[in-house]
Amino acid sequence: MKTITSFFFSLHSLVILFCVTADHGVSGEGTSIVFTTLGRLDYAFDIFTLPTDRPPTISNEIQITDGESVNFNGHFPSPSSTSSLLSLLPNQTLIQTLLPTDPPPLQLIYVTERDGVSSLYYDVVFPDSPTSRSIGRRSALEFPDRVQFPLLGEDLIQNKISMKDRPNLAGDYLVYISTHENTGKPRTSWAAVYSTELKSGTTRRLTPYGVADFSPSVSPSGILTAVASYGAKGWDGEVEELSTDIYVFLTRDGTQRVKVVEHGGWPCWTDESTIYFHRRGEDQWWSIYRAILPVNGEISVDSVVVERITPPGLHAFTPATSPGNKKIIAVATRRPDTQFRHVELFDLDKNEFIQLTRRVSPRTHHFNPFFSTDSSRVGYHKCRGDGNAQPPTSLSSESTARSLPSRRTMTVSLSWTSRVSTLFRIDGSFPSVSPDNDRIAFVDFPGLYIIDLDGSNRRQVYGGNAFSTAWNPVRKGVVYTGAGPEFAPVSTEVDIIAVNVEDPEKIVVKKLTTNGKNNAFPSLSPDGNRIVFRSGQTGFKNLYIMDAVKGEEGGLHRLTEGPWTDTMCNWSPDGEWIAFASDRENPGSGSFELYLIHPNGTGLRTLIESGSGGRTNHPWFSPDGKKLAFTSDYAGISAEPISNPHHYQPYGEIFTVNFDGSDVRRLTHNSYEDGTPTWVPKFIRPVDVEWPVDRPRCEFEDLHWLNEMPKPSYRYGPSDLGSNKVQCGARF
Ligand SMILES: *[C@@H]1O[C@H](CO)[C@@H](O)[C@H](O)[C@H]1NC(C)=O
Ligand SMILES: *[C@@H]1O[C@H](CO)[C@@H](O)[C@H](O)[C@H]1NC(C)=O
Repeated sequence: MKTITSFFFSLHSLVILFCVTADHGVSGEGTSIVFTTLGRLDYAFDIFTLPTDRPPTISNEIQITDGESVNFNGHFPSPSSTSSLLSLLPNQTLIQTLLPTDPPPLQLIYVTERDGVSSLYYDVVFPDSPTSRSIGRRSALEFPDRVQFPLLGEDLIQNKISMKDRPNLAGDYLVYISTHENTGKPRTSWAAVYSTELKSGTTRRLTPYGVADFSPSVSPSGILTAVASYGAKGWDGEVEELSTDIYVFLTRDGTQRVKVVEHGGWPCWTDESTIYFHRRGEDQWWSIYRAILPVNGEISVDSVVVERITPPGLHAFTPATSPGNKKIIAVATRRPDTQFRHVELFDLDKNEFIQLTRRVSPRTHHFNPFFSTDSSRVGYHKCRGDGNAQPPTSLSSESTARSLPSRRTMTVSLSWTSRVSTLFRIDGSFPSVSPDNDRIAFVDFPGLYIIDLDGSNRRQVYGGNAFSTAWNPVRKGVVYTGAGPEFAPVSTEVDIIAVNVEDPEKIVVKKLTTNGKNNAFPSLSPDGNRIVFRSGQTGFKNLYIMDAVKGEEGGLHRLTEGPWTDTMCNWSPDGEWIAFASDRENPGSGSFELYLIHPNGTGLRTLIESGSGGRTNHPWFSPDGKKLAFTSDYAGISAEPISNPHHYQPYGEIFTVNFDGSDVRRLTHNSYEDGTPTWVPKFIRPVDVEWPVDRPRCEFEDLHWLNEMPKPSYRYGPSDLGSNKVQCGARF
């Protein structure tokens, strides 16, 4: 246990976690990178389940993951897989004593970030034992019998840090998404389907090279796998609906790959020739569709029959099917009368929805349903906290969950070695560390904040809206920021201010710019005398240098000039270079690349190109100046955005590059928006960072673009199932 828990810390009100190993080539011994991930610290996902044969009530809902880290995207393996899964465990004596013969235990395969990086775990829990029903216990956490272990070996977790997602079990094979292989081409997704034989650990890539696959689903027989895929098209920057098609191939080796549906995502099978999937219909409602594959003859887009299943009037997406009951599917919905995403059943015979989670926790988002093989249960994930005005539960906060005694009977932990750098998430944006390596400044909208390096002692030092932070390397306790609205036009007033935070009782704020235009992204020369920043004073955002004490009144030196945007500048530790992001190749396009320039205006060169239309931003020098960390969409998108809460830029990931532009490395792997990295000269040990005390608040938002409900005046054509009733009441 110790080994695992030592990776989960937080900085009290802020930072979190995870370790990058030496093979990521992070320069220098003992550094850390602190960055932000939009919303992630509020997720606290756990997997819950409701029965389908009883009314959905609070007492019927069971939490089946253990409140460690985030647990999501579950899959119920069939009971026949139990023995093969349990045979993987070293202590068979223990297994025999734990396993009741009747009824079979509830088993779950899911994604967890408990090891600091994404991995796939298997749990056997006993939520439905006669004891549990008689005493009305809600949470599987309260039961002593739980066997838990990671399904993938160290080689696939520690040595191939990546996002693992959407696990399926097909016999002895685990089929899942991983992002561990670099496509070598900017703006292409690294997401691909792999199959690992559980006993031997032998892993095979099923997705052809040059292609990205999402949302794999293995057919009931295990023979076929369906995916949402770009095929040869590739990602074009979309962050709402991906322009994927549905492909089918042999699970055994990925061969006989064939496109079966144009335009669709999130496939799932009810039998060997029926696939349900979602797409945004022509009337703009996200809806569930069914594809029937021909039993005889060639399978192709032309021979597959597609029909729409769910009616307009609500968004329905991320379908789940149960081979045990072909008359029913589960979906996530967004209805016009609620801000929340819920799991519902859809009765295919009656064309009726049956609401499930809305009757249990109406003000909580529920994601990505999945069925047990006998269709008696629907699983999904949601935030385990009470921040969405859910009725308080016994697990109302992360700290409560964690303080429960560990009831796990067995945990196989991974061993981590050769750590040279840690990565931490901060609960805020634009972090930077003080020259004494004892404090971090960051912004939260609104306000400028300071915390101690262990994450404690969060205090606001400036209450107005601010973005980006930089410390003076010489003058003690002086933090600079751009004060004013972010993403504002050149003529909006944003000022560079210096905030002296050294005396917490007497914080002094000084305004350094006087031009009344948009000034932001300050960065200090290593001698602490000068500031480089970007200013919109001549109508375009270009770079300028001014005195760090007198500000603009001490004179202004123009560094770059052109009808484009130069921004997000960072001064190198040796003072020789300034790195910045610019759209000068294609002004106004939103496409940014990284450049380097000497402070005297000579030596301009490209550090990294970002591919056609690419976005590469927020460069930050390593303490030895040999590398830079930055944010980029270099690795495209890693999951269907509709399966996650809101992210403006779900493609954002943290990378490093050598000063000479070589050796681009990806540090973060997830489907969230990561950004604003800073490089800390000190190795922050996770054990030195405090736990958050007020989490989870569950205050994240569902996809903003799902709030748009198409106009009811739309005239539905015959293919739109106009006769289909939308029934809002529950059937129970
Ligand atoms: C296996 O589990 C049994 C039952 O809990 C225990 O008595 C035994 O010591 C364990 N063996 C090993 C090698 O850990
Ligand atoms: C500009 O600065 C660079 C780096 O400090 C230096 O090598 C170069 O000689 C300078 N050029 C001029 C014209 O001063």
